[in-house]
Amino acid sequence: MNILHEDFTLSNGLNIPQLGLGTWQIDDSDAERVVSFALKNGYRHIDTALAYGNEVGVGNAVRKSGLERESIFVTTKIPAEVKTYEEAKVSIQQSLQNLNVEYVDLLLIHAPKPWSEMFKLEITKTYHEENLQVWKAMEEAVSSGLVKTIGVSNFSILELQNITKNSNTKPTVNQVRFCIGDTKNELVAYCQQNGILVEGYSPNATGQLLQKAELQPIAAKYGVSVAQIAIRYVLQKNVLPLPKSVHEEFIVANSQIDFEITKDDMAILDLMVG
Ligand SMILES: NC(=O)c1ccc[n+]([C@@H]2O[C@H](COP(=O)([O-])OP(=O)(O)OC[C@H]3O[C@@H](n4cnc5c(N)ncnc54)[C@H](OP(=O)(O)O)[C@@H]3O)[C@@H](O)[C@H]2O)c1
Repeated sequence: MNILHEDFTLSNGLNIPQLGLGTWQIDDSDAERVVSFALKNGYRHIDTALAYGNEVGVGNAVRKSGLERESIFVTTKIPAEVKTYEEAKVSIQQSLQNLNVEYVDLLLIHAPKPWSEMFKLEITKTYHEENLQVWKAMEEAVSSGLVKTIGVSNFSILELQNITKNSNTKPTVNQVRFCIGDTKNELVAYCQQNGILVEGYSPNATGQLLQKAELQPIAAKYGVSVAQIAIRYVLQKNVLPLPKSVHEEFIVANSQIDFEITKDDMAILDLMVG
């Protein structure tokens, strides 16, 4: 099994390649090179966001790849700070213009609250009504063919339920941080039981896992790198991994995860703390 040839199927029937290339912290000036290299080496799923400031470079790579547009799955996101219907419409147009493509495959709400409020311990405001406004603009983008499917990112169970109970469209995806040591078991189980695909961002904990001494013997046992163990672990949880690298050798290696971590080793990894 080559992960680059495997898809998950979303609840609306759309296929999504099981491995995506993350592009956070890739400059627009470098994004075309990185994404072009990934596409040449079999990646067919690219994850960007308006907030990453690199949609122009990503779009250039997609358009210049020589691949059929339908064979590449492009995700972008409405910024966390955009919380009105009107602003969401502008954001969608801006992303399509930056990417210079006719449609995006998956559009996400980047976060349920503006970033400045995401990690506050005390919840002062829910943003439920605001997220429904943004969602309405996203539903319209699907109806007009600008977007194939819509989802969310960094949403809790309550924030997901706000959307599912108060709109006609269920999110097909919830993109959350998911890696060894940060597995969000309750949220992931809820999503998986309700037909919402979980995408795992930061499968290498933005590089931090790669320094973990405890992972080295496990990687050595399988004859792979720590990054390959980290990405494979995510996949074996039925979560779609989104590793990011700007280095060609890592981009290739991150897709070479055609091995199986045993049940016993998965159980050891499950107990590791982040
Ligand atoms: N929705 C959200 O709120 C959200 C938040 C964070 C991330 N994301 C998405 O998820 C993607 C992945 O998250 P992330 O950027 O934190 O990615 P990550 O894959 O967890 O970590 C990336 C870091 O690991 C290094 N790396 C990757 N593969 C490696 C390898 N095989 N060997 C050695 N080092 C390796 C990269 O180095 P080099 O780049 O220097 O090679 C980079 O420093 C993002 O790019 C973005 O698309 C979404």
